[in-house]
Amino acid sequence: MFKNDLLKSKRILITGGGTGLGKASAQRFLELGAEVYICGRRHEVLTATEHELRASTGGRIHSRPCDVRDAAAVEEMIGIIWADGPLDVLMNNAAGNFLARTEDLSLGAFQSVIGIVLMGSLHTTMACGRRWLQAGHKGTVLNITTTYTTTGSAYVVPSAVAKAGLQALTRSLAVEWGNRGIRMNAIAPGPIPTEGAFSRLLPRPELEQLAKQKNPLGRFGTVEEFANLAAFLVSDGSGYINGEVVTMDGGEWLEGAGEFTALGRMLTDKEWEMMKPKKTSPAK
Ligand code: COA
Repeated sequence: MFKNDLLKSKRILITGGGTGLGKASAQRFLELGAEVYICGRRHEVLTATEHELRASTGGRIHSRPCDVRDAAAVEEMIGIIWADGPLDVLMNNAAGNFLARTEDLSLGAFQSVIGIVLMGSLHTTMACGRRWLQAGHKGTVLNITTTYTTTGSAYVVPSAVAKAGLQALTRSLAVEWGNRGIRMNAIAPGPIPTEGAFSRLLPRPELEQLAKQKNPLGRFGTVEEFANLAAFLVSDGSGYINGEVVTMDGGEWLEGAGEFTALGRMLTDKEWEMMKPKKTSPAK
């Protein structure tokens, strides 16, 4: 759907780039000519992805272990990347999430998820943003949020509060830094099967069917669809999009939000017929 040189000469860092949506985006960005850096916590996973994507795309890819919760480690990583030249794009994709009853969660559980999703994104954004501003270098940040940032969601409260914060960060800095050449946008993905998320969020296979049924399109999204949207949003072709959160969920959250949707889906054809206005004979 894009020309193969769409991201030529772009240098892009993807946090959590070793697996899932981050890995799929890395692959797409490489296919489109970008030079890609991936980071994550697990050295072996990153190295395997680096080798796999280098072999499959022939692109320039580098990997580096880094826990984004650690501000000093992030600063060190960004410094090392910058020594080879400035990044053009930062994609804050690293996340943590699990289903749990909130009253059962320890402080450590909150700190873990909020630390990765919100503080981790803040660390990378500040490290890149300060460098871009100081050098007058244009930059683009793409944050990965979720569809429940405005509604919140039961059973994933650490994630809901952290992603809501990330959305606020996106919109705030889009305005504060926009006039100095930095764009900030976000993708709010709905259900897209990846091992990391689905093993934690859909514990029983039959729940998948239920999840598909409550989606207007009747299916999950694909990592390829996600990666294409990410490529568009980090490319210069989307240069006037700033402070936007693009929902990509097949209409799922609107399905849940509409007051009459569930009711309407339960009505039979006969009931729909009964709801129609009765024909009256024309007045003479
Ligand atoms: N339910 C409740 N609490 C949980 C939990 C669960 N399923 N999984 C972890 N925790 C708690 C731990 O008990 C711990 O709290 P404590 O310090 O009070 O004991 C805290 O969270 C941190 O857990 P730890 O095992 O040290 O993990 P971590 O900080 O290295 O890992 C997670 C981060 C917890 C988010 C882990 O799920 C993870 O690595 N996820 C990465 C991938 C992912 O979540 N992808 C989906 C994105 S949508």
